[in-house]
Amino acid sequence: MPHLVVNGRDVELTCTPATSLLAALRDELGDTTVKAACGSGECGTCTVLMGDVPVLACCTLVGLVDAEVRTAAGLADVTREPRGAFADAAAFQCGFCTPGQVVAGHAVLARGVTTRDQVACLLSGVLCRCTGSVPIVDVVAALAARPAAR
Ligand code: FES
Ligand code: FES
Repeated sequence: MPHLVVNGRDVELTCTPATSLLAALRDELGDTTVKAACGSGECGTCTVLMGDVPVLACCTLVGLVDAEVRTAAGLADVTREPRGAFADAAAFQCGFCTPGQVVAGHAVLARGVTTRDQVACLLSGVLCRCTGSVPIVDVVAALAARPAAR
């Protein structure tokens, strides 16, 4: 049985190691903040952190996970940003892509990048069909540009 650490919690899974991390997180652990959309690595809405690295949960096999997995649900417990900033700026409409944007935004801020171009590049893997990327990049770029974020 695969064993993972997810959002600080040790979990034993009943699925096979060949199960996608997306299926394990949603169907077995009930973490519906990890969104299932294309299922083929194109939209980025399933983005989670493996260690400090953003990965696509739909394209990652459970058996290949070698670091703690953190999802938007777990990040909400430890930091208000960038989740709160998205809400404050209303940088979403339907909200479907927002958990993936929050995870990607967290990774951007952790990297210490400061320019809008860098932020836009690092967020480009998570697509938004409603709001579009401009307000989302604006929010994360504003956070990244604060002296406290460096
Ligand atoms: Fe994983 Fe689209 S659902 S990239
Ligand atoms: Fe609807 Fe991004 S807010 S897909």
